[in-house]
Amino acid sequence: MKKIEEYVRSIPDFPEEGIIFRDVTSVLQDADGLALAIDLMQEKLKGVEFDLVVGPESRGFIFGVPIAYNLHKPFIPIRKKGKLPCETVSIQYELEYGTAELEIHRDAIKEGQRVVIIDDLIATGGTNEAMVKLIEGLGGKVVKTVFLMELSGLKGRDKLKGYDVESVIAYP
Ligand code: PRP
Ligand code: HPA
Repeated sequence: MKKIEEYVRSIPDFPEEGIIFRDVTSVLQDADGLALAIDLMQEKLKGVEFDLVVGPESRGFIFGVPIAYNLHKPFIPIRKKGKLPCETVSIQYELEYGTAELEIHRDAIKEGQRVVIIDDLIATGGTNEAMVKLIEGLGGKVVKTVFLMELSGLKGRDKLKGYDVESVIAYP
């Protein structure tokens, strides 16, 4: 059986020179790779008690929904600005270059609910930090975040001190 790392294609100099891009599509396009990724991420939730899975558009949806489905939990999407139809709360956050804005439906999380965040990858940690703020702003408690991949060199964890964060694959 192949290891999960072997399914990840690494592309040098994308989207810019000097960056080694870890491509999740090569995992997804192999049935064994897809199943292994979901299974290994889900394993990190063993023994964790929680009420909701939250995932960000768009790659967070890919892994968040099957894990929520398998564990029979609701899935709450966090979307890029202007996509959600009902009342939202939003947050601006820093990307590696420039800023972006994420939104969540105001009624999606109730006071005291325990939330697991699922995403494909942590780079600078800006997306996750913004999601934590949205969730906590609605009264939710982030009990764990699981990533498939972590780009350790970008030190995203520094933005998530005090939170339980795990990744399946860590790149230096
Ligand atoms: C990517 C990735 C994470 C985020 C990680 O999403 O899926 O959500 O960037 O980067 P960070 O740790 O520096 O915040 P992106 O915003 O590119 O959107 P996409 O999933 O729609 O491609
Ligand atoms: N792969 C996928 N998404 C990313 C990366 C990467 O290497 N860096 C920042 N976002």
